[in-house]
Amino acid sequence: MNGNRLRLGLFGANCSSGRTYASLPERWDASWENNLRLAQMADEIGIECMVPIARWRGYGGASNPNGSSFESIAWACGLLAATRRLRVFCTVHVPLHHPLVAAKQMATGDHIGRGRLGVNIVCGWNEDEFQMFGVTKKEHDARYAQGEEWWSIVKRIWAGEDRFDYEGAYYQLHAVEGAPRPFGDADPPMMNAGSSEAGRWFAIRHSDLHFDAVETPEASTPRIAETKRLARERGRDIQVWTPVGIVCRPTQKEADDYLEHVVDHADWDAIGYLAGLHAKEGRRQTDPQLLVHSGHNPLARRALARGSYCVIGDPDAVVREFARLQAAGLDGLAINFVDYLKELPYFAAEVLPRLQRLGVR
Ligand SMILES: Cc1cc2nc3c(=O)[nH]c(=O)nc-3n(C[C@H](O)[C@H](O)[C@H](O)COP(=O)(O)O)c2cc1C
Repeated sequence: MNGNRLRLGLFGANCSSGRTYASLPERWDASWENNLRLAQMADEIGIECMVPIARWRGYGGASNPNGSSFESIAWACGLLAATRRLRVFCTVHVPLHHPLVAAKQMATGDHIGRGRLGVNIVCGWNEDEFQMFGVTKKEHDARYAQGEEWWSIVKRIWAGEDRFDYEGAYYQLHAVEGAPRPFGDADPPMMNAGSSEAGRWFAIRHSDLHFDAVETPEASTPRIAETKRLARERGRDIQVWTPVGIVCRPTQKEADDYLEHVVDHADWDAIGYLAGLHAKEGRRQTDPQLLVHSGHNPLARRALARGSYCVIGDPDAVVREFARLQAAGLDGLAINFVDYLKELPYFAAEVLPRLQRLGVR
């Protein structure tokens, strides 16, 4: 990643509807042509990375968000071959991918991109997907313990270690080897987005980037500083990022009106289905009575960006919010739009130069 103080990624474009849970006619069509054009546009304007979502089934409702999605390693390989500067992450489910297969697939992708692959390690949470694979979902923290074994196997293969045996609780492997090493013999950066304590500690111990949930930038400031301090105490540097849903229009009123249009089309069946999956996982729920049309409202956030922080406004307002997020200690934002291809050019023309003038890019 380059030296911008506030880095930017595009999040979720490999999946139909992206991060938006609404039956909008203009919802994201995750075709290959659209992904390719988006990646080349991102490459051109200096966006640092693209981060896909590894999803194996949609969330139902009329719009079935993420019902169609490109497998993320293959998707990353295609985009890396067609870009020059952009880092492209793949997202790998620990319980569903054997580490030897994944290590070779990812090394292949990294050579295609001449060192521009990134890795998002997901330890899993979606019960329906586990069932689809016939895999029993382990207790929450055990999934991260398996993730640690998985990652240490991948790292040893990538380090070019001679045939080694691995005797872990989750993997027992014999005479393991794998070549080539990643491009330039340097490991791709690894991110993890676990927000639980086990997930965050996985990131502190192993990841280059931690994606954390943000309610408000100010409330998150101590936690972000602590994550970085805990990593530093272990001799590691870690960046902290968060996902952000964006509606940027020439005036605040136009942006607010568009958010209202999104909420009016919210796919409550899909949102409810996702809330049920989260409830099974014991994740925090928001109160369905709280519907007001604001970017900071939990339900508006769900329709626009699956619960992530949202920034709704004219270019000056977007830049003020980005500055607030950066001041909280965040190193990067993984942004999503309803229609990435249609909205990114305006964002690039109006927001990026303002961020440069502010000195954060
Ligand atoms: C930026 C970001 C990307 C994520 N990508 C995926 C993904 O592609 N597939 C998936 O199943 N979960 C994904 N997750 C879920 C996380 O890996 C994690 O399971 C979730 O945030 C809950 O945290 P916990 O596992 O610590 O309980 C993502 C979360 C975030 C914030």
